[in-house]
Amino acid sequence: MKVAIMCSGGDSSGMNPAIKRFIEYSFELGFKPYLIYDGLEGMIDGNIKKADYSDAAGIIFRGGTIIGSSRSKRFYEYEYRKKAYENLKNKGIEALMVLGGNGSFKALDVFSKEFPVLYSGIPATIDNDIALNEYTLGTDTALNVIRHACDEIRDTSSSFRRGSIIETMGRECGYLALVSALSSGAEICLVPEIEFNLSSIKKRLIKEFKEGRRYLIAIVAEGVGITHYLKEWLEREIGIESRATVLGHVQRGGSPTVFDRLMAYEFVTIGLENLSKGISGVVVYNNGNFGLKDIDEINAAKYQIKPMLLKFGERLAN
Ligand code: F6P
Repeated sequence: MKVAIMCSGGDSSGMNPAIKRFIEYSFELGFKPYLIYDGLEGMIDGNIKKADYSDAAGIIFRGGTIIGSSRSKRFYEYEYRKKAYENLKNKGIEALMVLGGNGSFKALDVFSKEFPVLYSGIPATIDNDIALNEYTLGTDTALNVIRHACDEIRDTSSSFRRGSIIETMGRECGYLALVSALSSGAEICLVPEIEFNLSSIKKRLIKEFKEGRRYLIAIVAEGVGITHYLKEWLEREIGIESRATVLGHVQRGGSPTVFDRLMAYEFVTIGLENLSKGISGVVVYNNGNFGLKDIDEINAAKYQIKPMLLKFGERLAN
């Protein structure tokens, strides 16, 4: 069987180890592996190449994706989806592995209902926001990049007795911000999933500054949208000079951590084994186990951060 891999939407560290495993395990299973370059855009344009071992060499430690990715507007139109399918058909490709996030799985759902293609979805996004699934490839690497930035900002924040507000990515999901706040010892954490109360934060901080606090770290998810307001607020209400840092795309880079490399290996193995049995679906990871979920089910549900983490976060939002 000819099977192709592509990356779609925001890249994440862990995609390259996944591509390596895809190529090597495909050969082991007797498949012919193909690479689709530049995501859905490349599938529309027929940017597809047969893979060989040289494609898998020297990529395991690299961030991003060697085959590129894209967010495709054209794919919303049937005529381009048809073109994409014809490109697969002309090459005899029967199965597709897609590394991506929510937008990619929505596109894959539509595509697979219109055209007879076997598929395997692999959750890969730094946002960790795929429903019915605990882990998406790239999250651990992004968390380590954020942790590193927080540790460094702490150095200067403590020297200057300043408030430092750090904005993390994640779209509408606060997972990156919450885990970063807990693992970096932040004093404030604002995420979309937790209602926050600025007056109780004010009361708590004024007391702590009276009792010896010298500086503070606040981690804010981009989905909350008040990073710069919080800087002004800290200066006005708490009386501490503050600086805001929007981490931005540094969070999407970096050599994949050991955890992301191992998860990539396992996600792809399960995905290919299902394809070899003719089974489509999204590979998910929950409570230490891998499984397969229906793409409709994934797309219909919403990712929920673990209640215990949310509980820990409440203290930092009040
Ligand atoms: O979905 C991944 C992500 O990095 C989000 O956290 C962020 O909001 C978005 O992509 C940024 O997208 P772009 O790279 O297109 O600016």
